[in-house]
Amino acid sequence: MKGLQIRVKDLIRVYKLGNVEVQALRGLNLNVKAGEIVSIIGPSGSGKTTLLNIVGGLDQATAGLVYVGEVPVTSLTASELIKYRRKTVGHIFQTLNLIPTLSAAENIEIPMIAIGTSRGSRHKRVEELLKIVGLSERASHKPDELSGGEQQRVAIAAALANDAPVLLADEPTGELDTGNARVVVDFLLLANRELGKTIIMVTHDPTVARAADRILKIEDGTIEAALTPTQAVESEAVASYVDQLRTRIEDLNKKIAQLDEEFRAARINGDEYVAQRQSLKQIKAGLEEEINRMGVVT
Ligand SMILES: Nc1ncnc2c1ncn2[C@@H]1O[C@H](COP(=O)(O)OP(=O)(O)OP(=O)(O)O)[C@@H](O)[C@H]1O
Ligand SMILES: [Mg+2]
Repeated sequence: MKGLQIRVKDLIRVYKLGNVEVQALRGLNLNVKAGEIVSIIGPSGSGKTTLLNIVGGLDQATAGLVYVGEVPVTSLTASELIKYRRKTVGHIFQTLNLIPTLSAAENIEIPMIAIGTSRGSRHKRVEELLKIVGLSERASHKPDELSGGEQQRVAIAAALANDAPVLLADEPTGELDTGNARVVVDFLLLANRELGKTIIMVTHDPTVARAADRILKIEDGTIEAALTPTQAVESEAVASYVDQLRTRIEDLNKKIAQLDEEFRAARINGDEYVAQRQSLKQIKAGLEEEINRMGVVT
């Protein structure tokens, strides 16, 4: 089934632990188009997992609305939520995605048993899915007989098993090295581009985030900014250029202080001191102007 639109409006989630209240989400708004893949980045504790769990029907909102297609997720009853989870959402977690005592094939089969798919269709589908994620040869391996990357590919296959229109991936590459992370992201991109799934992918890794159509930054429970992947690259490039300029300014400040010291110790004469100081000041002003032109407040 092709992707559905995801709409999140003024979403609030407050956790109460005794007398302590944690505001995990503080009025978050988000719109993901049908068939779009977005990544969500943001510091630890900013509410990323909370958001995915509410959209995925695993956690309850304190206030606000979530719509997936025409389904009002935030007002479903418990039994409607179970159905919604089975049919509409494929959820990929950072770890513990798979049942350790079952083989790769059986792990992929489980979601289909839950919705009552016939045995014959299940086995056919498992074969197809193993082929999609390139693990046909590993069908009978248990999770601990697979590499981390292979386990995440099995998890993606299981998330695709019921042909759900929406995939939610929480740090799907969190524990993988760069090479394996790329392979896993490529399978998510394939699910998006070839199968038209709507995907929200949470990640700490900017390189992984850039694979998406859009990058959203969550901070303190609200979306702070939306960047296109090119903007993200550009803003990183600007940031590192500005860092370089700042380092050069610091160097100049040190040189000026040294010069002052030499003058005080009478190691250079007045004319030389003034000329050199003037020149260093001029270079510094030029660099500061350059930083201002980059639109950065110093
Ligand atoms: N079940 C819970 N009970 C109480 N507080 C919770 C619960 N789940 C999350 N929180 C709190 O809500 C805030 C957001 O947590 P969340 O797991 O959504 O963050 P995150 O952005 O996914 O972080 P990370 O990048 O570390 O996974 C945190 O301050 C966390 O301590
Ligand atoms: Mg998290």
